Amino acid sequence: MGGNGFLLAWRFVVLLQLISGVLGWGKEGHYATCKIAEELLTEDAKAVVKHLLPDYAGGDLASLCSWPDEIRFHYHWSAALHYVDTPDFKCNYEYCRDCHDSSGHKDMCVTGAIYNYTRQLEAVGDSYAITNYNLTEALLFLSHFVGDVHQPLHVGFTGDLGGNTVIVHWYRRKTNLHHVWDNMIIDSALKTFYQSDLSQMIQAIQRNITDGWSNDVPSWGDCASNKTVCPDPYASESIKLACKYAYRNATPGSTLTDGYFLSRLPIVEKRLAQAGVRLAAILNRVFASPKQTARE
Ligand code: ADE
Ligand code: ZN
Ligand code: ZN
Repeated sequence: MGGNGFLLAWRFVVLLQLISGVLGWGKEGHYATCKIAEELLTEDAKAVVKHLLPDYAGGDLASLCSWPDEIRFHYHWSAALHYVDTPDFKCNYEYCRDCHDSSGHKDMCVTGAIYNYTRQLEAVGDSYAITNYNLTEALLFLSHFVGDVHQPLHVGFTGDLGGNTVIVHWYRRKTNLHHVWDNMIIDSALKTFYQSDLSQMIQAIQRNITDGWSNDVPSWGDCASNKTVCPDPYASESIKLACKYAYRNATPGSTLTDGYFLSRLPIVEKRLAQAGVRLAAILNRVFASPKQTARE
């Protein structure tokens, strides 16, 4: 399924990685959220995920979780689906007010995309879905966007494009605030605390899921009124964190060093954990076998 699309896309991967910065959580962030999710999947969900993934993924969802960033310019319509920005300096999010692309098309934003791709995947057994949707792409988009909506600056202010136009120094490197939150905090953490080994960082986050945050974790995956998916509270959390931690003390031209890094890293690690736990909860609900749902 989608074989040609993927081959084409992979050619773009190499090219785009050369010419673009990384968009969304960087490759490491998306890999981490999907890896955390994979290990929390039920047997039913694991089987459907494996069935939908292309063979070359070897059943590993995490290896393809950055795919939507890699085809972001190729599938031009998808660019607005990675984020949802709020009016400048408003530290709250409202679906009706905020979920649109820059031309005002409604539902074209990260939370709209999460609703849309979940709905497509819910029809996974229908012949209608099989012929009208590319369910492989739907799985990869959903898995990626659940990660993106947890990156605080993917729910940032419209005027600075979620921190993209806020130029700062990260230690001695000139970059922008958005990139700090997509990549630099994670990269610095890998170097400083995890011997540049992503699997060590993932394991540390997983230990925190079972020990450190264990009182909160059981509720992370819940949705109000038994809905399959509820991205709006995740976006609300993100803009609150963007205001309280990302934008704070990171004015244009500032230099961010240890004080900022060490106080923000726990936020980044918790958001990666929440994204992983919630992605697993969504996929477990969407791909629960019909028998099981009928009995409940
Ligand atoms: N472009 C405009 N706003 C953005 C955001 N919040 N994140 C990523 N890219 C964007
Ligand atoms: Zn993205
Ligand atoms: Zn980004």
